[in-house]
Amino acid sequence: MTRIALITGATSGIGEQFARQLAESQTCDELWLVGRNSARLDVLKAELLPQRTVAVCADLCTTDGMMCIEAMLKEREPVISLLINSAGLGYREPVSGQSIGEISDTLNTNCNALTLMCRMCLPYMDSGSGMINIASSAGFIPQPGFAVYAASKSYVISFSQALAAELKDRRIKVTCVCPGPVTTAFQYKATKGKTEGFTGIRAKTSKTPGEVARISLKASSKGRRLVSVGFSQKLLRLAAKILPHQWIISMIK
Ligand SMILES: NC(=O)c1ccc[n+]([C@@H]2O[C@H](COP(=O)([O-])OP(=O)(O)OC[C@H]3O[C@@H](n4cnc5c(N)ncnc54)[C@H](OP(=O)(O)O)[C@@H]3O)[C@@H](O)[C@H]2O)c1
Repeated sequence: MTRIALITGATSGIGEQFARQLAESQTCDELWLVGRNSARLDVLKAELLPQRTVAVCADLCTTDGMMCIEAMLKEREPVISLLINSAGLGYREPVSGQSIGEISDTLNTNCNALTLMCRMCLPYMDSGSGMINIASSAGFIPQPGFAVYAASKSYVISFSQALAAELKDRRIKVTCVCPGPVTTAFQYKATKGKTEGFTGIRAKTSKTPGEVARISLKASSKGRRLVSVGFSQKLLRLAAKILPHQWIISMIK
């Protein structure tokens, strides 16, 4: 029985770092890397473990993309040791400034695809398998100017914690990871190329994608359910718990 780790968002940022670290640790027979950028997938496959890496070119926003992954699972029947849902996006713009397509892509990738991936992979998991869902600290508080993204990540936090409780008896661990700013292409895409990276407090508290992947893998191996990455994000989570959200929102605005 082939044991695999399946990673969405593997072509870039945090997902790519998961792929690199798992390839190095050789804990699985195969790595399945999912992304839309086929050229990037091919480069990674060649760089990592060519014989043991499966490149899955799929757009998670489309039914075709999801069906492609489902068909591969049905055909090969692997045991999924680890599912990592890292694919995600968001636009730093008021709701009125975002197109219907942008909002739809955000919700489809961050919420719909993540949920369907978890459901689709469950029949292939056994006792000891794990899921890592990448949410965000943005999911702890409503965020004007980043409303759709923050709400989508609240969904991931809520869904992951409920799923963890549902799967406890099957001994399948679900770990939801909430990073703050991470130095990837995310910010550039979120601002449509207006800013390259983070500034001010965000730059000071930012983590590298490698750090996030390492912390997440460790948390998953310990069976942790909700992880805030870094001290500043732990503080933010605490503040979101004890302070009135209206007050925090007026500070953000
Ligand atoms: N960077 C941050 O500051 C930060 C902070 C907190 C949370 N996060 C979360 O961390 C996760 C990873 O983000 P990142 O920072 O690594 O950003 P990134 O470098 O932009 O990576 C995003 C990944 O998502 C994939 N993706 C996007 N839409 C997709 C679709 N429709 N179908 C398939 N794959 C798709 C991209 O692959 P293709 O382009 O190949 O499709 C890419 O591999 C996201 O869920 C993000 O919300 C990021």
